[in-house]
Amino acid sequence: MWPALLSLVALSPLISAHGPHIAQHIARANPAASSPTTAHSSLATSSTNTTTTANTTSVTLTFSLISTNPTAVPLSDIVSSASTQPTQALTTTWQPGSVPTFIPGAPALPNALALNPANYPALDKTPPTDSPEVLQWIQEVANTGIPIPDIPVTNPGGCGNNTAAVANATERCWWTCGGCTRPTDITTCPKKDTWGLTYDDGPGLYTPDLLTYFQQHSLHSTFFVVGSRCISRPAMLQDEYMAGHQIAAHTWSHPYMTTRTNEEVIAELGWSKKIIKDALGVTPLHWRPPFGDIDDRVRAIATAMNLETVIWTRISPTQTFDTGDYTLAAGGVTAQQVLNNWESIMGNSSKISTGFIALEHDLWQQTVDIAVGYILPEALAHSPSFNITPVIECLNMPLANAYVETNDNSTNPPPADAPISHVKRPQSWPKLVSPYPDHRAPCNPPVDQAAEHQRAALSTLLSYILG
Ligand SMILES: *[C@@H]1O[C@H](CO)[C@@H](O)[C@H](O)[C@H]1NC(C)=O
Ligand SMILES: *[C@@H]1O[C@H](CO)[C@@H](O)[C@H](O)[C@H]1NC(C)=O
Ligand SMILES: *[C@@H]1O[C@H](CO)[C@@H](O)[C@H](O)[C@H]1NC(C)=O
Ligand SMILES: *[C@@H]1O[C@H](CO)[C@@H](O)[C@H](O)[C@H]1NC(C)=O
Ligand SMILES: *[C@@H]1O[C@H](CO)[C@@H](O)[C@H](O)[C@H]1NC(C)=O
Ligand SMILES: *[C@@H]1O[C@H](CO)[C@@H](O)[C@H](O)[C@H]1NC(C)=O
Ligand SMILES: [Zn+2]
Repeated sequence: MWPALLSLVALSPLISAHGPHIAQHIARANPAASSPTTAHSSLATSSTNTTTTANTTSVTLTFSLISTNPTAVPLSDIVSSASTQPTQALTTTWQPGSVPTFIPGAPALPNALALNPANYPALDKTPPTDSPEVLQWIQEVANTGIPIPDIPVTNPGGCGNNTAAVANATERCWWTCGGCTRPTDITTCPKKDTWGLTYDDGPGLYTPDLLTYFQQHSLHSTFFVVGSRCISRPAMLQDEYMAGHQIAAHTWSHPYMTTRTNEEVIAELGWSKKIIKDALGVTPLHWRPPFGDIDDRVRAIATAMNLETVIWTRISPTQTFDTGDYTLAAGGVTAQQVLNNWESIMGNSSKISTGFIALEHDLWQQTVDIAVGYILPEALAHSPSFNITPVIECLNMPLANAYVETNDNSTNPPPADAPISHVKRPQSWPKLVSPYPDHRAPCNPPVDQAAEHQRAALSTLLSYILG
C-alpha cells in the first residue's frame, strides 16, 4: 500500500545489498506442528533452532532461533502471496465513557461510533491546506514564534533524486540521507538492553493478533498510527489505548514529509493529532516521520505542533535498527531476511552502551505473523533479558506524559510550551528543546549514541548560555 520499494534508503545494507533473485534453502523444525493446546505458551519450553543459509555468494544469511511461538505461521507462508488469514475480533469493545484508570486524570473515552469519516479528509492523501481546521493550525504554528527554516522541499524519489539536497544534508540535518539527528530526536532508549517497542502504520486488520500476544505476555508497545487507518478503525485504536499501549502520531497519509510544503506538513500532523484526540480524548505528544524522513524544517513544524520526534536507532551512517518487515507484504524482502536482520539488531544491541528502538509494522498480516511468531518470542528469550517497554516508559516517564491532557506539565512540559529553564529530563537522557535553526547542535552520525547525545545536549546548552 505504501511506496515501500521507494524507501530502500531506510533499509540496512544487509537488506539493500541483496537482489530480488536470491534463493534460499531453509532447514527448520516446524513450530506450527506443535499442538494447538500449547498456544502462546512457548517461551519457557521452545528451543526450535532455525538455520537459514542463503544461496548466494554476495549475502549469507545465518540465523538460529532459540524460541518461536508454537502457533507461529511457518516462515514459508510469510510471503507476499500468502493466503488471507481469518481476522480476530478485538479483545474488548469499549463503551463510550469508559475511563482509562491507568492514566491519572485521563478523560473518559469518546464514542467511536459517533465519528463520521465525512468530517475528515480523504484517506491516504495529504489533506487540503485551505480547510478551517488547517488554517487554524497554521495560525497556531505561527503564534508559537518558532522559526521554520526556509529549506526547499525535496523531490520524490529519495536520495538518488535529490542531488542538491543531499549535498546540503548536513546543513538541513536530513536524517534520510546521511542519518543526521538533533538532540530533540528520540532515537534510542537510554538504558542498555532496553527495547523501546514500536509498531507503525496501523491500526491494521491483524493488529488484534498482536494485542492478544501482548496481553498474554504482559508487553506494552508504542503504536505510531496513521490517521487514515484510525478513522477507518477507531474501535481498534481505542482497544490499543485502553490496553495501556502508547499511542503516537504517524501522519494522516504517510508521505515522505520533506517532500511536503510547510502547510501540508501542518495538515498531515494536525489531522493525525485530531483523529487520535477525537477517538481517545487525548492528544499525542510524540510522532514518527514515515520512512524517518525528517529535516530541520519538518522538525521545527513538529516542535511547534507539540510533537516530539521518535525515529529508530542508527549505529553507523549506513546501519539502522530496521527489521525491513514492511516490504514483506510487497515481496521486497523474505521472512528469512527479516529474521536475519532481527538477529543482527539483537547482536548489535549488545555492543552499544544504550538500549534501542527498532522499526516494525502492524499493518500487514505478514508483519504481524513474523512479530508474534518469531521476533517477539526470540526477544523474550534473549539473554540477558531485554526490558521491553513503550518508548515513553523507556525514557523514564509515566504513560501519562505521552499525552497533552495528562502530561505533568510541571516536570515534563510539552515541547512547544516549554520555557527552556523549566525542562527537566532524567539525568541519563539529557535532552533540551531547541528552537530551530538558531541553536544547532553539531550534526555527526551517532556512532556512539550515548556520547553523541551527551555532546549534542551540552552544545545546545552552551549555545543557550552564550546567547
Ligand atoms: C542452533 O544451531 C546452531 C548452529 O547450527 C548451534 O550452534 C546451536 O547450538 C543450536 N542451538 C540449539 C538450541 O539447538
Ligand atoms: C541457487 O539459486 C539458483 C538461482 O539463483 C537456483 O537455480 C539453484 O537451484 C539454487 N540452489 C539451491 C541449492 O537452492
Ligand atoms: C524526481 O524529481 C522530479 C522533480 O520533482 C520528479 O518530477 C520526478 O518524478 C522524480 N523522480 C522520481 C523517480 O521520483
Ligand atoms: C541548505 O540548508 C540550509 C539550512 O537548512 C537552507 O537554508 C538552504 O536553503 C539549503 N540550500 C539548499 C540549496 O537546499
Ligand atoms: C550488526 O549488524 C550487521 C549488519 O547490519 C551484522 O553484519 C553484524 O553481524 C551485526 N553484529 C552482531 C554482533 O550481530
Ligand atoms: C498540561 O497542560 C495542558 C495544556 O497545555 C492541559 O490540557 C493539561 O491538563 C495539563 N496537565 C495537567 C496534568 O494539568
Ligand atoms: Zn510508516
